Amino acid sequence: MGALDGKVALITGAGSGIGRATAERFAQEGASVFCVDIDTVGGEETAATVSGIFSRADTGDSDEVDAVFAECESKLGGVDIAFLNAGIAIGVANMTELSNELYTKIMRVNVDGVFYGARAAIRAMQRRGGGAIVATSSLAGLIPFQLDPVYDLTKHAVVGFIRSIAPTLVPLGITANTVNPGMTDTKIMTDETKALFEKVAFPLMPASQIADAVLSIVTTGRTGECWVCQPGRDAEPYHFHEVPGPRIKGASGRRPPGQEIGEWAMGSDG
Ligand SMILES: NC(=O)c1ccc[n+]([C@@H]2O[C@H](COP(=O)([O-])OP(=O)(O)OC[C@H]3O[C@@H](n4cnc5c(N)ncnc54)[C@H](O)[C@@H]3O)[C@@H](O)[C@H]2O)c1
Repeated sequence: MGALDGKVALITGAGSGIGRATAERFAQEGASVFCVDIDTVGGEETAATVSGIFSRADTGDSDEVDAVFAECESKLGGVDIAFLNAGIAIGVANMTELSNELYTKIMRVNVDGVFYGARAAIRAMQRRGGGAIVATSSLAGLIPFQLDPVYDLTKHAVVGFIRSIAPTLVPLGITANTVNPGMTDTKIMTDETKALFEKVAFPLMPASQIADAVLSIVTTGRTGECWVCQPGRDAEPYHFHEVPGPRIKGASGRRPPGQEIGEWAMGSDG
């Protein structure tokens, strides 16, 4: 028995790196895998490896994203797992040198793509009666990353978005989490970056380590979490600090209960 027997998983960015490794891991666990990528060659290679289906889409285009979710539903019967993983880096540290074109390009894939994918996934999973969404953020979604600040911006956006939708999806039986990998040996890293890490003997993770983490995330049933992956450690959810709450009193003379307006507004009582 595989952990994902009978499940259908749609994976974006499945043509390479973390997406490909996760497609392989999911297939080993019995899932039917629907591979999406803008790169037809890589996407078809992955689909062939996992006996899955490939469909080309640009995740920054909402019509194309809706179309691949519809195709997955019609060909495989539904969507149980959506791994919203397609992403790019731009490696521009000096903001004065960043063109509008490059800025828009990364925002489309890394932010628009996750929103379009999550929206299509929620619609499909409502028809299915539940499901699991995992979006690939990054360690750069939790810490500063001076080498590529706009990449950092997009990955923080993914963290905030997924944590914000997760509570609203609980009644629908849909979980939403992020995976936040550190440095992983894939094509997204330039040869210069890889050489730099090699020089200081900092180990890069294999993409298979992130795939294992994604499998753990979708099988726990937990939601609203951001799972950090680092070399030599098991993946684990990041613990966010509470923000300081307001120092105000309600009509009763006591701190107003958060339930009335939402715990999110309250922060810590300290
Ligand atoms: N490799 C790392 O060190 C690392 C660390 C943290 C997060 N990540 C994230 O992991 C995810 C996967 O990246 P990877 O490391 O496997 O890199 P990768 O370059 O090997 O794979 C990315 C895949 O996304 C696809 N893609 C790019 N733009 C697309 C678009 N518009 N529509 C559809 N597909 C598109 C590419 O064709 C490629 O197949 C990305 O979101 C990346 O930001 C990577």
